[in-house]
Amino acid sequence: APIGSLTGRRPLPPEMSERTGCPFDPPAARFRLLEEQGPVAKVPLLNGAHVWLVTGYQEVRNAISDIRLSSDVVRNTNAMSLTSEQVTTGSCPAQPDLQRTDGMFIFMDPPEHSRLRKVLTSQFTVRRMRALDQRVHEITDELITAMQGAGTTADLVTDFALALPSLVICELLGVPYEDRAEFQERSAITLNINNTPEQQRDAGIALWEFMRNLVIAKRTAPGDDMLSGLISGELAADPPLTDAELIDIGVTLLGAGHETTANMLALSVFALLEHPEQLAALRNDPTLIDAAIEELLRYLSVSHTGPTRIALEDITLGGVEIPAGDTVVISLPTANRDEERWPEPGQLDVTRPRDTGHMAFGYGIHQCLGQQLARVELRVGLVELFTRLPGLRLAAPAAEIPLRTDMVVFGVHSLPVAWD
Ligand code: HEM
Repeated sequence: APIGSLTGRRPLPPEMSERTGCPFDPPAARFRLLEEQGPVAKVPLLNGAHVWLVTGYQEVRNAISDIRLSSDVVRNTNAMSLTSEQVTTGSCPAQPDLQRTDGMFIFMDPPEHSRLRKVLTSQFTVRRMRALDQRVHEITDELITAMQGAGTTADLVTDFALALPSLVICELLGVPYEDRAEFQERSAITLNINNTPEQQRDAGIALWEFMRNLVIAKRTAPGDDMLSGLISGELAADPPLTDAELIDIGVTLLGAGHETTANMLALSVFALLEHPEQLAALRNDPTLIDAAIEELLRYLSVSHTGPTRIALEDITLGGVEIPAGDTVVISLPTANRDEERWPEPGQLDVTRPRDTGHMAFGYGIHQCLGQQLARVELRVGLVELFTRLPGLRLAAPAAEIPLRTDMVVFGVHSLPVAWD
């Protein structure tokens, strides 16, 4: 199931994702590697293979924007031939049943990638983003009202953080209201770690079928949404996109925009509650919010085990020779804590000047297409939660909050909260 590639379990050996100290700090093993081997280090896998882990800011920036490092981890890979056991023991950089289909442009290189990226970028119009901004406010309002109606406690992950981005993607794609419960249920299953690989795969297929029906519906009755815009209208693709491409684009938007934003929301609330002086600074000066969002993106770097690339030719990165065919894993969290780039990078400090130079959204030709939308969701979501739920606090000891060290996207599996 293609969706599994964007979500799911860790692609690195377990110790490379484990957080032993502060839950918001990148795994200690990566800093150890940085010290011992420098910013480009060789990491052995359990099966005797290895990957290259890039941890420094400049090296990450160079690697992630170097098109000799392919995003097509499906076709160009030495890591995909691992057994399923190696996958379940967490020693594999990717999933072996991964299939890249027609429109998964996140896994494409130029010129294929350029073509799809261009048609999609043209759909993120100012007008559409403004309309979405309005809907983000309304959806946030509805979710918080529902939480208040149900009492003074909630699991912020299921009741808010997963729901908001999922509903926003429904808006973006034009999923009819009557189908949204089904859409949310299916996308939630693909994200649930407790499901078996079979359940996960079935949910992925069901989601793909859902998207196919949506595409067919938009062909006959186009709306004001992005899928319709891709099919018809002024900025529609030329030559026209196929159904398979449109379905994959829909699945990619969901895969890339749901879990990432959900975890940034929940983890940001957790981090602010654990740094009360930062929360107080933000409350005292609400104009800090945009700078605070960038700081939270930098400090938390939820995309913590990738992106992954494959060397198409021998390259030298940070003085290290990487042979053609090798897998390169890019560590955004350590790059975003580079002392040469930020003073006191280990401190969450919402009063830093607004700085978008972090790499939480990646960099280069694959840099996050949904970043403006993600920023809107984070700003509206965080402001409204802390404004409308007075005395918002954890309802469990911080040490008991289950961390997603075992997942591609870092965050919390649940976040029990209470308010007055
Ligand atoms: C790409 C992070 C939200 C859509 C990426 C990449 C990162 C990232 C690191 C680069 C992947 C690579 O280089 O291989 C995040 C984070 C988010 C977020 C941390 C939330 C806080 C969203 C949203 C959407 C979205 C809301 C859409 C609705 C995409 C797409 C790509 C992408 C389509 C692929 C772009 C390409 O390959 O050209 N994102 N993202 N993301 N993101 Fe996001």
